[in-house]
Amino acid sequence: MWVQENMSAILEVVNKLASISTDYEVPERVVNELFEQNRERLLSEAEELKDYAIKIDVNEYKVRFYNKGLEVVVDISNYPLLLPCNCGIAPSVRAVLRCEDLEQKLSVKKKLSKWLTMRFPCPLHSNLSEHELEKVGEIFKIPSFIYYKDFGVIWHNGSVWPPSIDSALFVNWIEEKAYLKEHRKVLDLGAGTGFLGLYAAYAFDLEEVTLSDFDPLAYFFSLLNSELAKQEHGIEVKVVLSDAFSRINEKYDAILCNPPYLPVAGQEGSPIFGTRLLMEAASKYHHYTKELYLMFSSLTLDVLELGKNVEIIGKEMVPFRVPSVLLNTEVFCHYLAEMEENLNYFVKEDNPFPVWHEVMLTKWW
Ligand SMILES: C[S@@+](CC[C@H](N)C(=O)[O-])C[C@H]1O[C@@H](n2cnc3c(N)ncnc32)[C@H](O)[C@@H]1O
Repeated sequence: MWVQENMSAILEVVNKLASISTDYEVPERVVNELFEQNRERLLSEAEELKDYAIKIDVNEYKVRFYNKGLEVVVDISNYPLLLPCNCGIAPSVRAVLRCEDLEQKLSVKKKLSKWLTMRFPCPLHSNLSEHELEKVGEIFKIPSFIYYKDFGVIWHNGSVWPPSIDSALFVNWIEEKAYLKEHRKVLDLGAGTGFLGLYAAYAFDLEEVTLSDFDPLAYFFSLLNSELAKQEHGIEVKVVLSDAFSRINEKYDAILCNPPYLPVAGQEGSPIFGTRLLMEAASKYHHYTKELYLMFSSLTLDVLELGKNVEIIGKEMVPFRVPSVLLNTEVFCHYLAEMEENLNYFVKEDNPFPVWHEVMLTKWW
């Protein structure tokens, strides 16, 4: 494999940031300093890592994995997911059966147990050879690139949210309808790796793009990706560490936001769960822009109550395969309770992923 963890400049910075703080309060200055101190190593390492990539194609519904010379193509037309592996289902079922809070909710427990214990072969594990699985697995252990069309960003599994099918659909729908064609100044709110804002800057030739996120690791990856986009495409963007709009003081032609959209009570401070950024974007965007492009799911339809003029630009059913939910007993139990209360999820009994939700991109003005 490419590099041992202790030799990687990217993972060295990730580990330092993780050890400084676990509560998302590392100031911008600390990340900037770490970035500058390691700049040359980070950039040359990123260059070497271009051999390890995932390419998302939402038109042909394929995900292509590259590990050095090897290409592994996975057809995702029956389950649009970055990694269509359903092996995480089994632990989640055990979680369901252990879940004491749901003692009374037998009906939902029974229904879900039925769907989730159906024995479908794992689409990934039943279609790839041992060797291919090993090579795909390696890509998820090291920092690697995720591409949409010919534009890529670097990420690291577990450190920062990857641009996923929803991010690719986001830019695909915006591009199809040329929504940002007349715009010059755009904010990517909750930018993660910076993918949406950087891709928009690249595809629409925008003059001013700001990437913002409250997670120091996301801020670091946005910085790194901005630097790579500058070298490769001549794109210059600003990067800001900001909790929602707290450090945003300017006005924009449009805001792009693909926030967490999983309604998990008690997890509102986390970058993964909760709907705080979603709700803040929907309720405060008009102070900063006339146009908000906001992604959410049928599980969070209540955000629509905050809008007057909202149009659905695109929607797509995707499996509810969220490892951080399915593998966390407490969080998953919360979902089961919500499902009992009629959350908008869907069941496809003949699919390896039986529980689905619908993601939608909306325009607010
Ligand atoms: C689903 S990820 C999307 C990342 C990226 N926009 C993409 O599509 O690839 C959501 C991002 O929102 C960020 N986030 C969550 N809550 C936030 C908040 N209150 N303020 C700023 N960023 C937040 C997370 O750290 C995470 O990077």
